[in-house]
Amino acid sequence: MFYTFAFCSLCFCCLVGVFADTDAVKSVLVIEGDSVSLNSSLTEIKAGDRILWTFGTNGPLIAKTNGVNNTIPDNLDKRFRDRLKLDKKTGSLTIMNIRTEDAGVYEVEISNSSSETKHRFTVTVYAPLPIPVISSNSSNCSSPSSSSSCSLLCSVVNVSDATLSWYKGISVLSSISASDLSISLSLPLEIECLDDSYSCVVAYSFTNWTTHLNSELCQTCPDCVFCCHVSEAVTRLVISALVGVAAACIVVYDITSRKVQQETA
Ligand SMILES: *[C@@H]1O[C@H](CO)[C@@H](O)[C@H](O)[C@H]1NC(C)=O
Ligand SMILES: *[C@@H]1O[C@H](CO)[C@@H](O)[C@H](O)[C@H]1NC(C)=O
Ligand SMILES: *[C@@H]1O[C@H](CO)[C@@H](O)[C@H](O)[C@H]1NC(C)=O
Ligand SMILES: *[C@@H]1O[C@H](CO)[C@@H](O)[C@H](O)[C@H]1NC(C)=O
Ligand SMILES: *[C@@H]1O[C@H](CO)[C@@H](O)[C@H](O)[C@H]1NC(C)=O
Ligand SMILES: *[C@@H]1O[C@H](CO)[C@@H](O)[C@H](O)[C@H]1NC(C)=O
Ligand SMILES: *[C@@H]1O[C@H](CO)[C@@H](O)[C@H](O)[C@H]1NC(C)=O
Repeated sequence: MFYTFAFCSLCFCCLVGVFADTDAVKSVLVIEGDSVSLNSSLTEIKAGDRILWTFGTNGPLIAKTNGVNNTIPDNLDKRFRDRLKLDKKTGSLTIMNIRTEDAGVYEVEISNSSSETKHRFTVTVYAPLPIPVISSNSSNCSSPSSSSSCSLLCSVVNVSDATLSWYKGISVLSSISASDLSISLSLPLEIECLDDSYSCVVAYSFTNWTTHLNSELCQTCPDCVFCCHVSEAVTRLVISALVGVAAACIVVYDITSRKVQQETA
C-alpha cells in the first residue's frame, strides 16, 4: 500500500515536471528606467481572440484586449499607472520606464472559443550600469620623456552581477566580477605607452558600457606605431600585387608561346 502511494506521488512529480517544462518561462532582463515589450507570441489578433495580461502568478489583471478595444482596469495597481501600453494588433504589452518593483512574473492568456494558451515571463530589473572611470596614479604617464610604464586603474561603484574588463582592441586583458551583492570594483592595468585602443568595459550579461583610454592619461607610443602598421600593410599589398602581375605575365606568356607552337606545328 505504501509503495503504491510512493510510486504514484513519484509519477505525479514527473508529470508536474513535464508540464512545467512545456510551459517554458521566458526570462526578460531589463535596466531600470528602460521600456520592455513582452511579446504575446501572436503576429495578429483575430476576431474572437482575447488577450489577458496579469502580474504575478494568477495575479491581478493589468491589461486586456480583443484586438479592437483595449482595457486597462480602473483599479489598476497604482505602480503601473500610465506606464502600460498594449498593442491592439499583436497583443504585446510594453511596460515603460520600468522600476525595480515591477520585477516579477507576468502572464499572458490567449483564448478564443476553442482554445486557451498561457505564456509566462519573469522580468528582472537591473540598476543602471555605472560608467567605468579610468584613473592614473603616476604623473609620469603624461610626461613624454619618461620611460616608466603607465599604471592605470578602472573602477565602478555599486554594481552587482556585473563584470569589469580591460580590453586591448577586441581582446580581453583582464576581468573581475561582482556577485549579487552591490560592491565597487577596480581593475589595474600596466602598459608602457598607448600602442592600441584600450578600453574598460562594465557589462551585465545582456548589455554593457565602455570607457576608452585616451592619451591624456597615457602617452601615445613614440615612433608612430600606427603608421608602421599602415606602411607594413601597404608593403604587403604592393608585394601581393607584384606577385599577381608576375603570375599573370607567366600565364599569358605560356598561352601565347603555346599558340605560337601550335601555329608553327
Ligand atoms: C513576437 O513573436 C512573434 C511570434 O513568435 C514573432 O514573429 C515576432 O517577431 C515577435 N516580435 C517581437 C517584437 O519580438
Ligand atoms: C468596442 O467598443 C465599442 C464601444 O464600447 C463597442 O461598441 C464595440 O462593440 C466593441 N468592439 C468589440 C469587438 O469589442
Ligand atoms: C483558436 O486558436 C487556436 C490556436 O491559435 C486556433 O488553432 C483555432 O483555429 C482558433 N479557433 C477559432 C474558432 O478561432
Ligand atoms: C595609487 O597608488 C596608491 C599607493 O601605491 C594605491 O593605493 C592606489 O590604488 C593607486 N591608484 C591608482 C589609480 O593606481
Ligand atoms: C616617475 O618618474 C620618476 C623619474 O623618472 C621616478 O623616480 C618615479 O618613481 C616615477 N613615479 C611613478 C609613480 O612612476
Ligand atoms: C553606493 O551605495 C551606497 C550604499 O547603498 C550609497 O550610500 C552610495 O551613495 C552609493 N554610491 C553611488 C555613487 O551610487
Ligand atoms: C557589449 O554589447 C554589445 C551589444 O549588445 C555586444 O555586441 C558586445 O559583445 C558587448 N561587449 C561585451 C564586452 O560584453
